[in-house]
Parts: sequence; structure tokens; C-alpha cells
Amino acid sequence: MSKVEISTPGKLMLFGEHSVVYGHPCIVTAVDQRMNVVAEIQENSNLQIIAPEVGLSSYSQDINNLGKNPNIPKGARFVETAVRNFFEKFNMRSGLRIETKSDFSSEFGFGSSSAVTVGVVKVLSELFDVKLKEQELFDLSYKTVLDVQGVGSGFDLAAAIWGGTLWFVGGGKTIIPLGRSSLPIVVGYTGIKADTPTLIRKVEEENRKYPKIIGKIFEAITLITEEAKDVLERRDWTRLGELMNLNQGLLDSLGVNTRELSSLIYAAREAGAFGAKLSGAGGGDCMIALVDSQTRGAVERMIDKAGGKVLQVKTGAEGIKK
Ligand code: PMV
Repeated sequence: MSKVEISTPGKLMLFGEHSVVYGHPCIVTAVDQRMNVVAEIQENSNLQIIAPEVGLSSYSQDINNLGKNPNIPKGARFVETAVRNFFEKFNMRSGLRIETKSDFSSEFGFGSSSAVTVGVVKVLSELFDVKLKEQELFDLSYKTVLDVQGVGSGFDLAAAIWGGTLWFVGGGKTIIPLGRSSLPIVVGYTGIKADTPTLIRKVEEENRKYPKIIGKIFEAITLITEEAKDVLERRDWTRLGELMNLNQGLLDSLGVNTRELSSLIYAAREAGAFGAKLSGAGGGDCMIALVDSQTRGAVERMIDKAGGKVLQVKTGAEGIKK
């Protein structure tokens, strides 16, 4: 095969962000906004990357120097590092052209970097006929993310690979599918791009300062996440909404909430949502609100009025596919 195309879903965090970085569980769901990765073998010794959504019209690097350019554009970093790690692990080299195309903006925090990383590793395994089990795909993708940004639990990679809604324990120690049905949520974007590693480091700093207190907050988030798993299975939206509010209060106490997120969260709650919280690292990006068919319209309007942008997404989406 000389050309392969793969698509992977983006994600939304439902419960357990930040504590998952410390080995606790989280619940993540894949969304129907996808990343497309196309790879083609080239008869030269270059890796060419085309990723218009991150402003890369064409970037080229000698395959013998992968990962050695300190000025590599941010948008190419995950692709180039994934290719290097794949070549190193399977002891191969080839000229390549990789093109990525996304349904969603990388500003939303839907996990474009993880979706692209999984997509590149998978596309290469198909292109070079290397059989990779899902766990091996996860491990190589996780190594790539850690090589590039140094921190992260890998939850977003799991969503990109397995899809659906997942119970995920930090580092991928346990991954349990929780079903494929879409949840009745509204997603509001603050218009502010958050930098996940910076927020992880902020929580790290708090944890250094107040290890006992922050440890207890992580434990409380874990109890909420465990309860949410059962409640999600029973589809008890009233209780799930209350758990979202509890989780939000603890994220606020970790210092990752913002005025803009709060404003959208309160707007959603006042419009009748069962509950609302930030989703992901905080500092900006998106919030989610749990609604029913009667309150959806009002919640969407209030989020809009509060300055947010409502994004139409379906959760529980399919994982990696050709
Ligand atoms: O910023 P996002 O949407 O990629 O979410 C980050 C979630 C964290 O728990 C803060 C980090 C992680 O890797 O789990």
C-alpha cells in the first residue's frame, strides 16, 4: 500500500480532569468531530507535512533529522515526533507525505494533538504493514505526547483509539468502555485557547504547596468520578448534573476555573441545566452542561448571551476508523 487514510475522533472530558494526571480515574467521551490523516510514501528522504488548520501549508524535514529541529512549528511537532518514534521502534525509514485535515478548530480543546498523534501512528502501521494492537498503538502515541509536551495522562489518546465513553485511569493502566450512546449535553466555547501543560504545572505547584489538601481534593474528585460511572449507566441525569456541579467546585478550588468559564456555567445552570462544569484543563476552552430536550434551547441561548459559542457535537463517537 502506498497511500492510507485514517480518521480519529476528538474528545471531551466529562469527569476527573487533573486528578487523572496523578493516577486517578476520569471519564472521557469521543466526539463526532474528527481528524483525518492521509499518509503517502515518497521516493525521497523527506517527511513533508501539510496541516492547513494549524497554518502549515508545507513543512519538510530530512527523515534522518526527525525531531532535531528546535524551531519546528508547533503544528508539526506531534506529527514529526510520532513518525520518528515509529521509525525508531520498527527500525525503518522512508520518505513520506502526511496531510492532516480536521473537522474542528485546534482552539476548542477537543484534543487535536492527540487525535493527530494516534492518526499518524495508525496510518504508518497500515502503510508499512506493521500489526499494532490497540494497547501498542496507545503506548507509542503516549510516548510521543510525553516526548513533545512532557506531561499528560493520555486520556485523550484513549478516546481517539477506542471511541465511545471510557473509564480511564491515568497513564492508561485501566481502560473500560462505558457505552456508545450520545449524552444530552450542550458544549459552550469561551473563545479563549487554554494551554494544557501550563495548567497542569499550575496544579502541580498547588500540590507542592498544599500536598495534603490537594491530595484530598483529588480523592474527592475520584469519589465523584466513581459515582458518576454508576449514575451514567443508570442515565440518572438529575444526579449526574449534581455530580458535575460538585466536580466543578473542586476544579475551581484547584485554581483552573476562569471568570469566562464561570459565566457560561452559571448561565447554563440558571437556564435549567441539570449541571455544568468546565471540560479539560480549564483556563478557557469549553464548558459542558447536561440538559434535557425541554431545557436545551434555553441553555444554548443563555450560553450564547453570556458570550460563549455553542458547538454542536455528539458524544460517544466511533474511535479510529479507515
Ligand atoms: O486540555 P484538555 O482538554 O486536553 O484536557 C486536559 C486534562 C488534564 O487532566 C488536565 C490533563 C490530562 O492529560 O489528563
